[in-house]
Amino acid sequence: MSEGLGRGMRMTLFNGSPRKDGSDARILAEAARIAEGAGFECETIDLYSLGISGCRACMSCKATGRCAMEDGMNGVLEKIRSSDIIVIASPIYFGAETGPVKVFMDRLYPMAGAKDGSKAPGVGKLRKVNLLFTCGAPGGAMTYASVLSRYVASFKMMGVEDTEGCIVPGADPESVMDSDYTAGYFDILRYQLEG
Ligand SMILES: Cc1cc2nc3c(=O)[nH]c(=O)nc-3n(C[C@H](O)[C@H](O)[C@H](O)COP(=O)(O)O)c2cc1C
Repeated sequence: MSEGLGRGMRMTLFNGSPRKDGSDARILAEAARIAEGAGFECETIDLYSLGISGCRACMSCKATGRCAMEDGMNGVLEKIRSSDIIVIASPIYFGAETGPVKVFMDRLYPMAGAKDGSKAPGVGKLRKVNLLFTCGAPGGAMTYASVLSRYVASFKMMGVEDTEGCIVPGADPESVMDSDYTAGYFDILRYQLEG
């Protein structure tokens, strides 16, 4: 990837694993290294430390584009809206993303557009979403494919057309960086960063 490609661009990464040195954290660290090498400014946010609570469905964001709950999520929304690309990583827990990742997703509802379209900040500058799911099952790439497609559909609803990523099955922190699936994940990320 050519150096300087991402100059002036931002990538925000979200780690949805409770493990600070788990498979997701290790892959994300390398993802940030790749993007920084291309000139992107990167920030990684730990979703387990964010401490946000679930969407209350008050619908005020439909009028304002902001969340009525003042628990730090509005600041995160601004970071996302000023990012060119975001990365969301989660382990698979009982066939789905982890709890904090689901809460985070629900709290992105202000990006799904206000009723008064002219005032809606929507997704701002964000054009790309990159997804990483890791799981223990060796056959997990097939078994949990629907998790990935659910996220693609959700971001499409928000107006993001380029949402890609993959599931890394059989993940173990000690060997995950040697997995062919992880290599495939980095290929997808590079493709998105270049495009
Ligand atoms: C509560 C819990 C539930 C899990 N459920 C699944 C599962 O349904 N399918 C699966 O393949 N792996 C499952 N796993 C394994 C994790 O998805 C896997 O170890 C993942 O790569 C951990 O990522 P991390 O190292 O970044 O934390 C589960 C792990 C935990 C702790």
